[in-house]
Amino acid sequence: MSQLCAIVLAAGHGKRMRSALPKVMHPLSGRPLVYYPVQRAIDAGAVRVVVVVGHERERVAPYLLETFGDKVSLAVQHEQLGTGHAALQGLPLLPDGADRVLVLYGDTPLLVASDLVRLADALDRAPDACLAMLTCTTSDPGGYGRILRDHTGRITGVREDRDLSDTERSIREVNPGVYCARVDFLSTALADLRPDNAQGELYLTDVVALAALRHGVVDVAGDSSSLVGINDRAQLAEADRMMQSRIIDALRRSGVTIHDGARIDDTVKIEPDATIEANVVLRGSTRVAGGARIDVGTVVDNAEIGPGAWIKPYCVITDSVVGPQAQLGPFAHLRPQTVVGEGAHLGNFVETKKTVLHKGAKANHLAYLGDGEIGEGANVGAGTIFCNYDGFQKHKTVIGRGAFIGSDSQIVAPVTVGENAYVATGTTVTRDVPPDALAIARVRQENKEGYASKLRQRLAAAKAAATSKKQSG
Ligand code: UD1
Ligand code: CA
Repeated sequence: MSQLCAIVLAAGHGKRMRSALPKVMHPLSGRPLVYYPVQRAIDAGAVRVVVVVGHERERVAPYLLETFGDKVSLAVQHEQLGTGHAALQGLPLLPDGADRVLVLYGDTPLLVASDLVRLADALDRAPDACLAMLTCTTSDPGGYGRILRDHTGRITGVREDRDLSDTERSIREVNPGVYCARVDFLSTALADLRPDNAQGELYLTDVVALAALRHGVVDVAGDSSSLVGINDRAQLAEADRMMQSRIIDALRRSGVTIHDGARIDDTVKIEPDATIEANVVLRGSTRVAGGARIDVGTVVDNAEIGPGAWIKPYCVITDSVVGPQAQLGPFAHLRPQTVVGEGAHLGNFVETKKTVLHKGAKANHLAYLGDGEIGEGANVGAGTIFCNYDGFQKHKTVIGRGAFIGSDSQIVAPVTVGENAYVATGTTVTRDVPPDALAIARVRQENKEGYASKLRQRLAAAKAAATSKKQSG
């Protein structure tokens, strides 16, 4: 079999998106649109993918290089003169010896690699053919180029939507823009293109008619659900729905329970036997281990959720690690660099940032724990605040193993509370507490016997005097 490579066109403006962000960088299920055709070409066996960039290439190029490294080469189309012109810019970067080239558009994210393989194989099996292309039939062909066939059923060309005659407009067979061409044919055909069409552009689609003149077109039927091109945000939303159902369906089949309404990025990994409840959003590099349960409405961004962890409803977890069997929430907020150890608990309305809770440590209610380290088995009471910021710098709080922090305490960092120390409720800790010490810093309580009724009489009299003064005044 001859060597396969690919050209992906991603230089266009994408005006119909009405966006400052180039179209191919718009996210779909957590990755820019252009990721998908490039990755699918690699999946299909392309040894090299040339991506043609142009409009806002300073935003597109770094992403591609960072994501795909030396699997991609970048060609530049300085002026957007059409898809044929774009493909022409990619040709010189194809590796020597490449015989067949997939040509794909950067705005078709639902492509499946098996279709690309079928297309490349179809060309391989037809030695006289110069071009293989997918076609599909759809009830809503608006915007797509239509497939033109002669009376024998042979493809004669593609007519762009803007150039259609009235009779051609009713054609429902469309060009999804997925081609596999022989490199030598494509080189000569692209050089022959002319901009005689409604947009005055060099259309890649015109190579189909040139191939047809040589009886060299092989057509392969594709499924319209994997071939949609994204031109505006309504199509983006529709494609995103389709991608979500693919991602979630695959995860369910792999053994993950996912309730309806969850949203899961393509970048997320979930082990079998995890449970994802309704309206959970999982983004970025998030990893969820088996046996973990993420309850309703939680949002997890770039975080690791350990085996058997239970994330109760409405938590927000960002750039953090949650250990095995840990319990969070409801309504816990884990900001970056939080590490929750095995079996540790963070309860409702607890906010953390850059804080490590060791095994079995607990902060169950209403606390702010920033820049802290909390030892194994320590207990942090309701309303505790780690006062980590003096307006200029952040400081660290260390709570030793087995320590007890009474409710409504303020721990003014930098400070260390020793192992098994006990901080009395309502204490403001400003100095280190030695291990096993009791720290108490609050005004001593005084009880005045029989004083409550006297106080009430005095307050009632004061109120009556104030009322009569108001009436007479
Ligand atoms: C194109 C096809 C159409 C097909 C449809 C499928 C042409 C002329 N038309 O139309 O037959 O049905 O896709 O989705 O090819 N691009 C460049 N440089 C340019 C222009 C475009 O790199 O000068 C890139 C864009 O970034 C985009 C892709 O090519 O990723 C397709 O361009 P777009 O303008 O979306 O083409 P369509 O009008 O959708
Ligand atoms: Ca398009």
